Amino acid sequence: EAAEKGGYEHFMLKEIHEQPKAVQDTIGAYLKGNQIDFSEIGLEDEELASIERFYIIGCGSAYHVAMAAKYVLEDMTQIPVEIDIASEFRYRNPILVKNSLVVIISQSGETADSLAALRLAKEKGAAVLGIVNVVGSSIARESDYTLYTYAGPEISVATTKAYSTQLVAMYLVAMRTAQIRGLLSDEDCEKMIAELQTLPKKIQKILDDKERIQWFASKYANAKDMFFLGRGLDYAISLEGSLKMKEISYIHSEAYAAGELKHGTISLIEDNTLVVGILTQSNLYEKTVSNMVEVKSRGAYLMGLTTYGNYSIEDNADFSVYVPKTDPHFATSLAIIPLQLLGYYVSVAKGLDVDKPRNLAKSVTVE
Ligand code: G6P
Repeated sequence: EAAEKGGYEHFMLKEIHEQPKAVQDTIGAYLKGNQIDFSEIGLEDEELASIERFYIIGCGSAYHVAMAAKYVLEDMTQIPVEIDIASEFRYRNPILVKNSLVVIISQSGETADSLAALRLAKEKGAAVLGIVNVVGSSIARESDYTLYTYAGPEISVATTKAYSTQLVAMYLVAMRTAQIRGLLSDEDCEKMIAELQTLPKKIQKILDDKERIQWFASKYANAKDMFFLGRGLDYAISLEGSLKMKEISYIHSEAYAAGELKHGTISLIEDNTLVVGILTQSNLYEKTVSNMVEVKSRGAYLMGLTTYGNYSIEDNADFSVYVPKTDPHFATSLAIIPLQLLGYYVSVAKGLDVDKPRNLAKSVTVE
């Protein structure tokens, strides 16, 4: 097993470090020259041009990808997007309008609820696009189109690299759809592709600075509660950051849409409660800062996660983490990295079984 871990202490840390390559491989698989091309998976431009609604479905982290994808797809393609947790979708008799594309996201391709959601969508006559990591898995086989992610085998129960590849797969779908529908010019699409291709380097840059996160994690390893706040895409990042924390460190953690704070969660803030504010979206920056001021005045200890340049975060944050700038649609891919590291190092500081957290399974093949 030590050999398989390639010199890393845990699979999770190894897989976190494999993200630049996993992201690069996944992007590269669907580029022909400087064009996004899905013809090899049979997903023709006409199909993308006729979509009237997207439904994106998954469980756990795959659902968090769906949530990020909703913000990106709606903004870029102007097509309505519904998202659902697979176990909810399958039992709520969903209405699928004509020309729907149902996207099922799954690392393993074997999650029972996601597979049932896929079958229901097909029964209702929708076309299904599977975003799957494991080749030949049930979801890959039963989808009308299968867009493989190229994360390679993921061993750690808490997903990192598969999540990152699912995100870029969804960016590619959004970009190509927007281009075909005339909402993204060929020139702007090429610029976006070029920016997408910088993500692996930018992820690497964040990884190179991991000691700072490790230091912070050891300071906060005994926290009882943690809160993650953000708006828009930053809310989607909050959900995944919070899930990483709770699943491997056993710290109670909640993610909140920052504007909802005043409707309940703020009553839980006490002296020294750790609150992580996520602020990658410049149009929402001031709004989320105001929520951070609110929790700080109630005693919270604040970690601010934002992009280089937003140094005014330090007026309020007790600890600040910066990620490189990118197209705002791609921000999730960078901001999640410090949060994966935070969850990982808290778990290590507590001496827990990082790769195999209690009560959890890598692939949930029974209901
Ligand atoms: C489990 C894993 C998660 C994963 C979820 C969905 O809960 O621990 O990391 O996000 O299942 O799995 P899938 O294989 O469908 O992506």
